[in-house]
Amino acid sequence: MTPVSQPEPLLDVRRLSIDFQTEAGMVRAVNEISFTVHRGEIVGLVGESGAGKSLTSEAILRLIRCPPGLLSGEIRYRGIDLLSLKDAELAKMRGKEIAMIFQNPMSSLNPVFRIGAQLLEAMTLHLSEATAQLRARVIDLLQRVGIPSARERAKDYPHQFSGGMSQRAMIGMGISCAPSLLIADEPTTALDVTIQAQILSLIRRLATETNTAILLVSHDLGIISQMCSRVMVMYAGKIVEEAPISTIFHAPAHPYTRGLMDSIPQIDRPATQLYPIPGTMPGLRDIPRGCRFHPRCTLSDQTCVEVEPELRQLDQAHWAACHKAQPGGFNQDA
Ligand SMILES: Nc1ncnc2c1ncn2[C@@H]1O[C@H](COP(=O)(O)OP(=O)(O)OP(=O)(O)O)[C@@H](O)[C@H]1O
Ligand SMILES: [Mg+2]
Repeated sequence: MTPVSQPEPLLDVRRLSIDFQTEAGMVRAVNEISFTVHRGEIVGLVGESGAGKSLTSEAILRLIRCPPGLLSGEIRYRGIDLLSLKDAELAKMRGKEIAMIFQNPMSSLNPVFRIGAQLLEAMTLHLSEATAQLRARVIDLLQRVGIPSARERAKDYPHQFSGGMSQRAMIGMGISCAPSLLIADEPTTALDVTIQAQILSLIRRLATETNTAILLVSHDLGIISQMCSRVMVMYAGKIVEEAPISTIFHAPAHPYTRGLMDSIPQIDRPATQLYPIPGTMPGLRDIPRGCRFHPRCTLSDQTCVEVEPELRQLDQAHWAACHKAQPGGFNQDA
């Protein structure tokens, strides 16, 4: 999917699939998805709850507990195949090369250790510097992520931090070793709206300073639009559209993306003009034949019911998996 003129991507995911054994048999939660992230780029992965966003992002660092063979495809980071890397080698990359921030900071911080000590431990793993120097770095880091009185607050335990402060500390931990790739899975969903905006601008500022690429996972196209230059839209385990953010907003080519756009509240649009997508995303055991979106799609016809659309290139950086998709939008009459 990478245009020929682009340099080698930092992250190159090819035909990634994730299967689970369930009581009702095997289900495919992520279905042959391919995408790239380039150095310093902020890319969004958006989609409804259950689309497979977290599984995709967790697969990159092999954080999914799933028997061998049920995760297939290739995940290359700087050309190295992460799926076949030895555990010890992957552990060296975690945090240093590729870091991850999760939705709920409280579940990532250990309640029995002081915040400063946890940051120090994370840094000690990857940076070979004297402890005194690392301690100074921890304070500096807490200051950079906006923790007031950082020297004192480093001695706090996680329960003494508010949700926003904990997430700042987690971001500090995430960027402490200046990783080349940061995977942020719903990093602000647990926070209230004003804090969300602060945290997002913090992530963006720090990423720019360290030229860190970000894979930003969110169900919220509004958040994605503030942060990302390029977006991938995921539906029921597949990427159904990929395009620069302006194209997604002005000329979405997949009816699902269009539905996501129409359901975003906007200041100049009364609530009566919101058009939520009818129906719900299918469960993993009920993925329909043909286009997986067709039961919810107002444009679907017999072809959509029978033939699964491939992700097709519509324009230089625009791809969509829809029979009706065409450059500049979709064809309602086709
Ligand atoms: N261990 C597992 N066994 C079986 N199914 C799983 C497992 N983990 C995840 N799933 C299923 O895979 C699908 C994708 O899950 P995932 O957590 O990636 O969704 P998501 O897009 O991140 O959703 P959300 O926005 O709610 O975080 C869901 O239907 C989920 O129930
Ligand atoms: Mg998720």
